[in-house]
Amino acid sequence: MKKFVTLLLALVIALSLAACGGGKDGLTVEEGKLHMSTNAEFPPYEMVTNDGGFEGIDVEIAGLIAGKLGLELVVDDMGFTAALEAVQNGKSDIAMAGITVDEDRLVNMDFTDTYATGIQVIVVPEGSAAIDSVDDLESAALIGTQEGTTGYKYCSDTPENGGYGEDHVVAYETGAMAIQALLAGKVDCVVIDNQPAQEYVKANPGLKILDTEFAVEDYAIAVKKGNSQLLDEVNKALGELIADGSVQRVVDKYIKAD
Ligand code: ARG
Repeated sequence: MKKFVTLLLALVIALSLAACGGGKDGLTVEEGKLHMSTNAEFPPYEMVTNDGGFEGIDVEIAGLIAGKLGLELVVDDMGFTAALEAVQNGKSDIAMAGITVDEDRLVNMDFTDTYATGIQVIVVPEGSAAIDSVDDLESAALIGTQEGTTGYKYCSDTPENGGYGEDHVVAYETGAMAIQALLAGKVDCVVIDNQPAQEYVKANPGLKILDTEFAVEDYAIAVKKGNSQLLDEVNKALGELIADGSVQRVVDKYIKAD
């Protein structure tokens, strides 16, 4: 009987450890690791390297944060919406994917301080006569976006709310796929974040970015709603990395002023 009780006790302890994640003081989902969910289709913030690894501004900043917390960074690549959901479901510790701090998202997750500015821009074919300013979007037959992004949200919103209505917007799995659709003439423009837009325009002759900025946003790191311990730790590390110039060094490595 005593043996049985001991066994039962061991089981209860094991189960409760598993339940709280078993990480450093139960801080992270896996002991010794910092899991970052992302959508590595968003240069220069996150992309897959030739050998199947990951690089980019977010990946490097997350690596530095993990280092400060004494944890090893693990990058979990998935769809953009899935990357946001992963923190809410406790499958990842942080989501970092050029994520815009947005009212709707704040309902389901918490955000750190901001570490970058994002600008939604409009990409069009070089000769596009139909669209040469944001005012022309209204008449744009079709706007391409990446699913789950703020670009999709703004554009698909009702005209009363400043959008163009769902019928005018196509959501693609990735930003790159939206750009391919633009090149193929399936959409008239793409609304996407400025830095990836620049990379895509560089890589695909025949496209240009309109001067008008569609929206200016703040990027931040998402953590599970209510996980204030992790949020505080990540914010502290991020604050130090901003203060000592590390974040800027990473940004300068990937974004060359020209
Ligand atoms: N900043 C936009 C948003 O938060 C787009 C982010 C897309 N990021 C990505 N890794 N695909 O909705």
